[in-house]
Amino acid sequence: MQEKKWWHDKVIYEIYPKSFKDDNNDGIGDIKGIISKLDYLKDLGVDIIWITPFFLSPMVDNGYDVEDYTKVNPIFGTMDDVDLLLDELKKREMYLMIDIVANHTSDKHPWFIESRKSKDNPYRDFYIWRETPPYERTSCFGDSAWTLDPLTNEYYYHEFAKEQPDLNWENPKVMDAFSSFIEFWLKKGVKGIRFDVIHFLGKEIDKDIHGYGPTLHEKVKELKHKSFGKYDIVTVGEAWGELQNAIDFSSYENDELDMVFQFEHTSYTNDRDKHGKWTPRPINMKDIRDILFKYQRALNDVAWNTLFVENHDLGRAINRFGDLNYYRESGTMIPTMIYFLKGTPYLYQGQEIGMINIRMNDISEYEDVEIHGSFKNLVLDNHILTRHQFMEACYQEGRDNNRTPFQWANKRNAGWNRSHKPWLKINENYHYINAEDETKDPSSILNYYKKVFALRKDERYASTFVYGSFKEAYLENENVFSFTREDDKNLLLIVCNMHSYPTNIYLSSQGEVLLHNYEEKEIHEGNNTLLPYESFVIKLR
Ligand code: GLC
Ligand code: CA
Repeated sequence: MQEKKWWHDKVIYEIYPKSFKDDNNDGIGDIKGIISKLDYLKDLGVDIIWITPFFLSPMVDNGYDVEDYTKVNPIFGTMDDVDLLLDELKKREMYLMIDIVANHTSDKHPWFIESRKSKDNPYRDFYIWRETPPYERTSCFGDSAWTLDPLTNEYYYHEFAKEQPDLNWENPKVMDAFSSFIEFWLKKGVKGIRFDVIHFLGKEIDKDIHGYGPTLHEKVKELKHKSFGKYDIVTVGEAWGELQNAIDFSSYENDELDMVFQFEHTSYTNDRDKHGKWTPRPINMKDIRDILFKYQRALNDVAWNTLFVENHDLGRAINRFGDLNYYRESGTMIPTMIYFLKGTPYLYQGQEIGMINIRMNDISEYEDVEIHGSFKNLVLDNHILTRHQFMEACYQEGRDNNRTPFQWANKRNAGWNRSHKPWLKINENYHYINAEDETKDPSSILNYYKKVFALRKDERYASTFVYGSFKEAYLENENVFSFTREDDKNLLLIVCNMHSYPTNIYLSSQGEVLLHNYEEKEIHEGNNTLLPYESFVIKLR
């Protein structure tokens, strides 16, 4: 069993600052914008905000290309703004989680500028240089992972864009530098860290080993020991991998990170063996259920889970796991299905108001470096996909779906700013999908999310939702996502119809209904016909 931690019952909300709220009306979201919405977040039930990198950056990958880890990007504000944010969070008993990109820096980082200069530069070894590429490899963003630098006529390695050179974690100076960046932020009062693509830290480049290299766990342990292990914070790693990898990172026994994000359930919507997210495929919700349950069963007593369906790299959850024809029904089924499982709920900005994917008319309307790199690779250079196929894939899975400006109100520019053209197109549907109108509408998706988190935190059930054991229910019915959470105090049953057609379940006793997305409808002992996406939580004992 796990030791109790201050963050176990907390809800974490991810903010992509560029798109959240533009306070000074320059077309880019900012820290003051975030501050102006803290009451909204508190009211929603959020405790911790995770802000994706807001450090100095040329923004090739919107901040995941860092130029200086201890400076604030002026497009987002100043260090004073960050200090003010920390104060304002504190007043509301809320906390800040930052996002540390340790695998790579920007090519504008002073280390890389030095490193390029000559083969004997003291910073040469901060990055990975080879006379000739030991093998061919395509980077995650479509071009080659090896780029020739004419200055010294050698190649440097980059897992992502060529403007994101990979650091050489075999160099102990890199470890020391990151330990001090991390301490810089923790001393300011930051209470959480998300580690970007942390599984790449132990790579053995010459052996073509990238993720989960042999020294990965040693490195994470050392980093913890030297920096964040000295503070009582919460950590989460982004770790693309499998169940065992999650256990290795986060088991109570191993004591590295508190939890990791894994993407089996969110990657299931595309064919990883072909061209990944650019070859979307229809999903069977039963498979999604089986994946999520596999993690619940395996981590139950050995490690802490993350509960999420969206982030800034994925498409919107309603498009992927729900049905636009049953917008409200599936939009409320999703949080019922995911946030009563055992683990920490994470939600992504706009998910709570039911924002959905955007149809762009032309590739030029996208901003994402991954979309453009992959378009060049798969369509222009290699003719693997047609332009039409690629545009369809972008609509399903492209990262810009989740990066369109937050829809605050049915006003000019969705109330996101006053008038300046936003950096990325606003989804036209803001006329009816927006936070202001949904706040007033008791049956809105937003108000349902509030109920979900309020129930999770209700003192009568909170300990059951946080620590109670997980057990699947009605497994034989392939249409339902159902499970119980149980401890000495309560036995709670969660039931979701995952489909747009009705299904039947038999209830052996009538429980007390705690939450239901069809409020008027009765739930009774015996046979119940569940309507499309009907979902509820009942207390059986
Ligand atoms: C992570 C981030 C993603 C970024 C990449 C490179 O996957 O979530 O947005 O592009 O790492 O840093
Ligand atoms: Ca701004």
